Amino acid sequence: MAIQTEKSVSQLRCIGCGETALADRFRCEHCRDLLEIIYPGWAERGLGGLNAASLKQLWLDRRSSRDAADQSGVWRFREILPEISQQQVITLREGNTPLYALPHCAQSAGMQQLFAKHQGMNPTGSFKDTGMTVAASFARQAGYRWVACASTGNTSASMAAYAARGGLHSLVLIPDGKISWSKLSQSLDYGAITCQLKTDFDGCVRVLNEVVERMPVYLLNSVNPYRVEGQKTAAFELLEQLAWEPPDHIIVPGGNLANSSAIGKALREMKELGFISRLPKVSVIQAEGANPLVRTIRENGGEKLIPVQADTMATAIRIGNPASWKKALRVIRETGGAVEQVSEVEIAMAKAEIGAEGIGCEPASAVTLAGLKKLVKQGFVKPHEMVVLVLTGHALKDADFTLKFHRGDLFTGTPYESESKILKPLQRSPLVLEPSVDAVVELLRSAEN
Ligand code: F0G
Repeated sequence: MAIQTEKSVSQLRCIGCGETALADRFRCEHCRDLLEIIYPGWAERGLGGLNAASLKQLWLDRRSSRDAADQSGVWRFREILPEISQQQVITLREGNTPLYALPHCAQSAGMQQLFAKHQGMNPTGSFKDTGMTVAASFARQAGYRWVACASTGNTSASMAAYAARGGLHSLVLIPDGKISWSKLSQSLDYGAITCQLKTDFDGCVRVLNEVVERMPVYLLNSVNPYRVEGQKTAAFELLEQLAWEPPDHIIVPGGNLANSSAIGKALREMKELGFISRLPKVSVIQAEGANPLVRTIRENGGEKLIPVQADTMATAIRIGNPASWKKALRVIRETGGAVEQVSEVEIAMAKAEIGAEGIGCEPASAVTLAGLKKLVKQGFVKPHEMVVLVLTGHALKDADFTLKFHRGDLFTGTPYESESKILKPLQRSPLVLEPSVDAVVELLRSAEN
């Protein structure tokens, strides 16, 4: 039996003009800005009628419950989520992801210690599941039969899975040839109608925005404020894992910029509600070839987004016109975080270093370690500080990248070929041998030396 508390009552509010909006909208009808979910009752009643100390205990206790919602690392935090009836909840038992120490990566970055919250350990292999369980459940509760997203591959994999579990139909728009095969295969496996459009992610978003105007299809891109609410739980869970002692820094990859927004919103709420007494600095790292937020902050102080024509091998964050840039900017400012960009070779090196710790992640996640190295060199992060990298996707999400890296041909024929020579010591090419015991023993002996 699920443990019940009072339901939180949520509202949608425009991040620009502050007007409230209807529950199934994505942009403000007055100023077209994005919407966010607020909980007006919290100030007077507290969360679910309970205080921070009782909730901390309740959320932990739910982990030993047999109820599906309690076992989910998202729904066990339901007091900080919009009200959704338990019968409508679609869950794959997402969340509850590990926090790992990365001692070798710490050393390589010049830190005394370093931790990674591995959101790639979610059911479909990326952090998207935490948001998708909330938004897909809302879609079902609101009576939609179809859901849709434009994606660089992870949102689509996640949406397809949750739609299938919830008996909804799903439509996926992805850029042709610019997402990894494993992500594409997931959305096929889970039964989505999958369209590879001959454009990039930003082009897919433009097409989808018009499709949802014409058809009764519910948009599950990250402009959907319910997705952001679900993604907040990663930060609550992280703080729970740290016994509610905030780290000094949280470092997040930046693509469409919803995840940084969600983590920042969670931290803001935790502080307002008395769960923590200070905010960690949230820093966002982008690939040099997909750096609209970095350029926007450096070139016009965050006044107006500078969209770019994005290109990076970290295909998950190959995004030039990020929807949630204003939300992310607010988080960076409020928490005193930084933005940084990293090169393709720096990403590849960081990914190999994380892999060599037995953890692994996809290239887009590795920007966090590459970015940390720069922030340490700049003195923004101090060697003794407590840093958590958010690893967003599983290593198997892009096995092609890993294989090419280790075979040494990731950068062949690219402008980075000569720079990439520094990666050689990290490369472990597969060895093809005769099926002979002597050959293998000989190899082991030489590896020992
Ligand atoms: N890391 C991974 C593995 C991702 O898949 C994404 C985004 C990000 C980081 C960036 O997160 O967009 O919230 O800033 N992937 C989206 C997708 C765009 O369609 O799967 P963000």
